[in-house]
Amino acid sequence: MRIKDIKSLAAVQGPARSVAERLQRRCYSVEDMRKLAAKRLPGSVFDYIEGGGEDEVSLRRNQSSFEDWAFLPKWGSVEHLDLSSTLLGGRVAMPLTLSPTGGTRLFHPDGETAVARAALDAGVPYGLAHLSTTTMEHVSAAAPGLRRWFNLEPTADKGLLQAVLDRVSNAGYEALVVNVDCRAIGHRERDYRNGFTAPPSIKPKTVIEGALHPRWALGFLANDAIAFPNLDAEIPQGPLSSTPDMWRTLLAGSYEPTDWDDIRDLRARWDGPIILKGVVNPRDAVRAAEIGIDAVQVSNHGGRQLDHMASALDVLPDIVEMTAGRMEIIVDGGIRRGSDVVKAIALGADACAIGRPYLYGLAAASQAGVAHVLKLMAAEMTRTMMLLGVSTIPELRDEGRDLLRHRSEAFTRALPTDFRPNQSPTAEFPPAQLAYSDTRTP
Ligand SMILES: Cc1cc2nc3c(=O)[nH]c(=O)nc-3n(C[C@H](O)[C@H](O)[C@H](O)COP(=O)(O)O)c2cc1C
Repeated sequence: MRIKDIKSLAAVQGPARSVAERLQRRCYSVEDMRKLAAKRLPGSVFDYIEGGGEDEVSLRRNQSSFEDWAFLPKWGSVEHLDLSSTLLGGRVAMPLTLSPTGGTRLFHPDGETAVARAALDAGVPYGLAHLSTTTMEHVSAAAPGLRRWFNLEPTADKGLLQAVLDRVSNAGYEALVVNVDCRAIGHRERDYRNGFTAPPSIKPKTVIEGALHPRWALGFLANDAIAFPNLDAEIPQGPLSSTPDMWRTLLAGSYEPTDWDDIRDLRARWDGPIILKGVVNPRDAVRAAEIGIDAVQVSNHGGRQLDHMASALDVLPDIVEMTAGRMEIIVDGGIRRGSDVVKAIALGADACAIGRPYLYGLAAASQAGVAHVLKLMAAEMTRTMMLLGVSTIPELRDEGRDLLRHRSEAFTRALPTDFRPNQSPTAEFPPAQLAYSDTRTP
């Protein structure tokens, strides 16, 4: 090679001009963002994001169940690829929402406002946790055009409940997200082993962790103390400090809806959409549809509550079939790639929701980090749909099951009848394809 040829091959990049550019060069996947978040956060805080209940079987199942579905791309033209869709009566730039997460300022001092601004820029809704560390009004002021939903913890005191609903409505939240999976708090053993509390209590381990993560520690010390200010007006004994305290008070005050009457009561009080979050049993979804609930968020709470639960994807086909278009369906848990979203939509979901992925982005780089995660998701959805042979979300939904095959299904089941071989599939198809055929059901 001549010097001239070598020179033409030299590719020296100048320094990145922004955080967004640096992320663009370093982080190619949500997993890369996760690794960055793990470096930025003290171990016990990172574990609070990562952990699940008991043996974390539900948590692991969330991701593995996406691997049980394989794509069957179709050949044909893909034109004007468009990720936009509708959800609960409004437009979304892609079928994705940011699921509520309590305690968000623990992961970065910009907390919920950074998440809200990134969601607004990306054109996706954000569900603010009742247990957020920034008030609902502050988030509204920070991102006024955002489609925002409120993750209500309904109290049994109906006067107080109405006051909270009025406050939520005045702050411009269009929908309520109501949990039906938090009657008790999941046993997150990582947190107990780490001695984790929110906010972190000062003890030798915390001081050492802080010293090893000075950027996080400075942000933590230089900003307002972590608190749950949406509750200040509601809980007479004043702001709550630690997570166990908060849960004790919430549960003692029957903050969770206790039965279907509470859901009916909420339906009567709230004019906008209601999303029931944590529904996994298809019969509950049918019941919710019958009492006029607009959507279910099929979820096992990111594996943080009951262990050994079905994943959202495990039960999605049944819920789609049994609700038969009477309500919208959002799916969460284990979504780490745009291709996961594509699979859920093809199986009949209207949208997906993510929790940990945007928290990784927040912990890694505040608003720019969340924006990067959303950008990755959109790029992956686009690429997957292009390779799959579909141009729009409605087309993806229509083609649906023809584009996917579950591990348990024989290959021939996915083919139209006139394509089926006369002989046994073993003679016709190579072993690699048959490797998917086992006896498990979806
Ligand atoms: C740190 C953390 C806090 C959470 N807090 C809440 C909450 O306050 N309310 C709620 O409904 N779900 C909460 N979730 C669950 C998420 O809304 C969502 O269901 C779950 O994270 C989805 O799974 P994924 O993290 O695998 O995307 C939380 C999840 C995490 C990781």
